[in-house]
Amino acid sequence: MKKVYIRTFGCQMNVHDSEIMAGLLREIGYGITEDMNEADVVLLNTCSIRQKAEEKVYSQLGSLKKLKKERPNLILGVGGCMAQREGGEIFRRSPSVDLIFGTHQICNLPTILNKVIRERRKVMAIEEEKIDQEEVKAYRADKTKAYVAIMRGCNNHCTYCVVPSARGRQRSRPPEGIIKEIENLVEEGYREVTLLGQKVTAYGKDLRGIDFADLLERVNEIEGIEKIRFITSHPRDMSDRLIKTLPRLSRAAEHLHLPVQSGSNRILKAMNRGYNREEYLKIIEKIRSLIPKMSITTDIIVGFPGEREKDFADTLSLMKEVRFASAYMFKYSPRSDTPAERMLDQIPEEIRLKRLHEVIDLQREIIKNNSHLRKEVE
Ligand code: 5AD
Ligand code: SF4
Repeated sequence: MKKVYIRTFGCQMNVHDSEIMAGLLREIGYGITEDMNEADVVLLNTCSIRQKAEEKVYSQLGSLKKLKKERPNLILGVGGCMAQREGGEIFRRSPSVDLIFGTHQICNLPTILNKVIRERRKVMAIEEEKIDQEEVKAYRADKTKAYVAIMRGCNNHCTYCVVPSARGRQRSRPPEGIIKEIENLVEEGYREVTLLGQKVTAYGKDLRGIDFADLLERVNEIEGIEKIRFITSHPRDMSDRLIKTLPRLSRAAEHLHLPVQSGSNRILKAMNRGYNREEYLKIIEKIRSLIPKMSITTDIIVGFPGEREKDFADTLSLMKEVRFASAYMFKYSPRSDTPAERMLDQIPEEIRLKRLHEVIDLQREIIKNNSHLRKEVE
């Protein structure tokens, strides 16, 4: 039996896409291996979110070049977000790569791979497809917790973000397929699901007669599910209706990941986030008044173009005000073909790094004090 090794970079959606790739390749007779050295096919499922993510992939490709020299029959493929955005540039920089397949082409992976093998030539497939891979049976490594994609793409156009170019416009998956998939998972013994989407709170805006609140209620009714999680939420879509639905979901985890990105109204505007600091704080207040124990986590970007000391101070003060249970903190990374990359007043690397260290230190303090508070309550 031929074997495939898949290495995943990036977010949970990518982890799940790799599960779908594994499912598709098993259907055509491949085995999945955790050991790259025994693989006939090595696939990298890549991420473009920041420069560093892409560098990691190129460095992995550098070491794979050696493996390919030792074993010329090894097939090397690059898929996912970076493949979608970079396309043929990957062949130019890494001539040992045999196939490039974008996020829109995952469901065609078996065909593309067979073409490489049969025709003994390089193949690139990055065109947008009408059908997504949703109804394919994913091969999941974890046997109790499952990822379920409820939508793909994003229409938001935050000015720093590659997602619209890496994953295309928002496509919500019809609810029937989602419910059926979760029911099947329950039958297989899964007890926990994480609903995935680049912006789950916008679910249904491209469908008729259903929104994210409705979907959550329907998933909450499925017998046998013990825990429901969902990522990622966007403050822009946190309507009162959705907020009021949350406490009614008996099976939902008391956790909300709600990226704020910045505490400064000037910067939020330049990022095109579609909410301001006051609106964000109001959402947090409403959620906490309904679910006092809700653990709220966030993402923060420092050093966005034009970020002055005053703007950065606003981010620090917002963090102190909200006291997030945890935060993913990043220094702004300019990405090609995004509006922010072309903005004047890019912040020098030393300042971005200094601000990053400052937010990390502050968040560390907050967590220390949060846990101290928790102990007092217990
Ligand atoms: N630079 C730095 N961080 C970014 N993120 C997205 N794009 C960039 C970028 N160009 C962060 C955001 C997002 C998280 C997934 O990654 O905080 O919420
Ligand atoms: Fe990376 Fe974004 Fe693609 Fe996820 S969707 S893999 S975070 S670029």
